[in-house]
Amino acid sequence: MGRPVILLGHGRLGSAIVEGWLSTHTLRPADLIILARSDSPALRALAARGVRVNPDPADLPADAVWVLAVKPKVWREAVEPWRAHVGPQAVVLSVMAGVSLSQTAEPFEAPVVRVMPTTGVAQGRGIASAWAEDERGWAAARALFRPIADLVELSGEDRMDAATAVAGCGPAYVLALAQSMARAGEAQGLTAEDADRLARGALRSAAAVLDGEGSLDEMIGRIASPGGVTEAGLRVLAADGALDDLAARTTQAAVDKARAV
Ligand SMILES: NC(=O)c1ccc[n+]([C@@H]2O[C@H](COP(=O)([O-])OP(=O)(O)OC[C@H]3O[C@@H](n4cnc5c(N)ncnc54)[C@H](OP(=O)(O)O)[C@@H]3O)[C@@H](O)[C@H]2O)c1
Repeated sequence: MGRPVILLGHGRLGSAIVEGWLSTHTLRPADLIILARSDSPALRALAARGVRVNPDPADLPADAVWVLAVKPKVWREAVEPWRAHVGPQAVVLSVMAGVSLSQTAEPFEAPVVRVMPTTGVAQGRGIASAWAEDERGWAAARALFRPIADLVELSGEDRMDAATAVAGCGPAYVLALAQSMARAGEAQGLTAEDADRLARGALRSAAAVLDGEGSLDEMIGRIASPGGVTEAGLRVLAADGALDDLAARTTQAAVDKARAV
């Protein structure tokens, strides 16, 4: 990454992004500045590694990528003290959910890009959707997120809510399905503890399969041999489009909520 990065907000997502950047050497500690409101052991540890935490505002570089990782409700007041430091050579990269590109651009002269990552970026295995309207924004998103996430470049900002519902909310939905499977296992006579371990193991196995080649359909096909035990269950899941219908309604609810924020 050729530019220094200034991160505003070192909470759950901000700290996950920093962990990903440093462990993948996307950024050198000296090229990262964190502007945080509260002190924390994690911030002190980063400072000891050479990350600059809350430096003198006069030392903020003019050509930085500003990463906004504060809550959407407080973002305007959070950026207010820094507005004058975000010059036209800077890039503003927002990871805030539900704040549009045009809203984010209002206080700044710099180009803006939206990236919606998951906290899997901490392990360099996140998924992120991006949308920008100019090449400098895209360049910043690619440089900072390709090393830590599978970066999906959307074809329009109006796709951001659907992308968030599938990738951001999706892990909770998949975990909820595993929870239901554990309950079903219990109903079949497994102890609660065994059912829970088995359901977690099933999720881990599914995740391991994802590292292989092929479409999701092919991956399912490799587990479910024709006429076998798995296929018998899949027939029930797919009956009358029940699973697709449930997934469609679940996604719609998440998209509706995102649009109402
Ligand atoms: N968590 C996720 O998985 C996820 C995924 C996609 C997008 N996002 C987006 O990422 C953003 C952050 O979410 P989060 O889950 O990381 O929230 P969070 O854990 O509450 O983190 C927000 C951080 O912002 C800090 N902050 C608030 N006002 C500030 C200010 N004026 N100056 C500097 N720092 C300030 C907070 O500090 P204090 O602790 O002092 O309040 C906190 O550390 C949100 O916009 C959210 O929509 C999150």
